[in-house]
Amino acid sequence: TYRLVAHLHSAPKRPSFGIAFDIDGVILRGRSPIGESPKALKRLYDDDSGSLKIPYLFLTNGGGIPESRRASELSQLLGVDIDPIQVVQGHSPFKNLLTRFENELVVATGKGEPAAVMSEYGFKKAVSLDEYASYFDSIDPLAPYKTWTTKQPCNKQRNLSFDVTSESVKAAFVVSDPVDWSRDIQVLCDILRSGGLPGEKSEHQPDMYFAADDLEYQAVFPSERLGMGAFRIALESIFNSIHHKPLKYTSFGKPNPFVFKNAESILMQLQSLTSDADLNGDYKDKKSHHFETLYMIGDNPSVDIKGARQAGHPWFSILTRTGVFRGKENHSDYPADQVVDTVEEAVEFILQREF
Ligand code: G3P
Ligand code: MG
Repeated sequence: TYRLVAHLHSAPKRPSFGIAFDIDGVILRGRSPIGESPKALKRLYDDDSGSLKIPYLFLTNGGGIPESRRASELSQLLGVDIDPIQVVQGHSPFKNLLTRFENELVVATGKGEPAAVMSEYGFKKAVSLDEYASYFDSIDPLAPYKTWTTKQPCNKQRNLSFDVTSESVKAAFVVSDPVDWSRDIQVLCDILRSGGLPGEKSEHQPDMYFAADDLEYQAVFPSERLGMGAFRIALESIFNSIHHKPLKYTSFGKPNPFVFKNAESILMQLQSLTSDADLNGDYKDKKSHHFETLYMIGDNPSVDIKGARQAGHPWFSILTRTGVFRGKENHSDYPADQVVDTVEEAVEFILQREF
């Protein structure tokens, strides 16, 4: 009996909690870690084996490169081994639209490699707005005055097996923050009010999707920068002023409740892979169990905290002071369950509370 009791006492408990980390303004500022964020993440791994001890993922509204590449970039910047399954970006839910648009012409815009993101999800005819615009002579009357060169990796014409100038665009995707707002607004308006082929006339508006709707976010500059939500407002208000029917669109990303539901199911998968279960085999089954608590650590009250609050049980929100929010007390409109200075403090709080 003693052995059994001793065994039960020493048996590792499957963690009944998980953590979702926001990236911009919590973990990174631009490409630099904020404070000791890498150290905070290391605490979630086993010291000896280096394998994952606490299920966690990144839940960001940002993006622009495929999740697999973002995972290796983050692993390098943060010094821990991050799996692509742990990276949920604003545009990740776009892959659920594959059945509708797999073989249709779709355009994708934003910083980074928007078309590569869509191709990785399986969209066969995804073209970046950079490339799309290049097939239409003078579509951007300001182009001759744009003497700058962008660092966008794929803005060249490829050898496409289809003709973008004669086929209708079925959907437009804003994958990440647009780089050239004036060109993007012009060309998107052309697509949206012509039924998908600039210059044509049609009552039908192609589908329009935004990866997120953040009005502002924390980047390298000391004060907030305009995000995808700001671009959406610009596009929408111009479109609605030149067109007789208001813009129809869908925005993904936090604070939508389905983002938190999806995070919960990924954390469940990660829970069944945590190191204790693997190494000691102390869990009878590899099935995951429901979480008692899921922590959302974010810097943006109206996005991260509002989202976690709306998602309800088992979400618990932690607001840091390293990004959009800098207040002394809690936020008045979207108060978090806990307010801390940094992500290190957030992780310390969680581990204290759980163990
Ligand atoms: O462009 C990124 C921004 O909109 C938000 O990123 O990581 O704070 O959700 P994050
Ligand atoms: Mg943030």
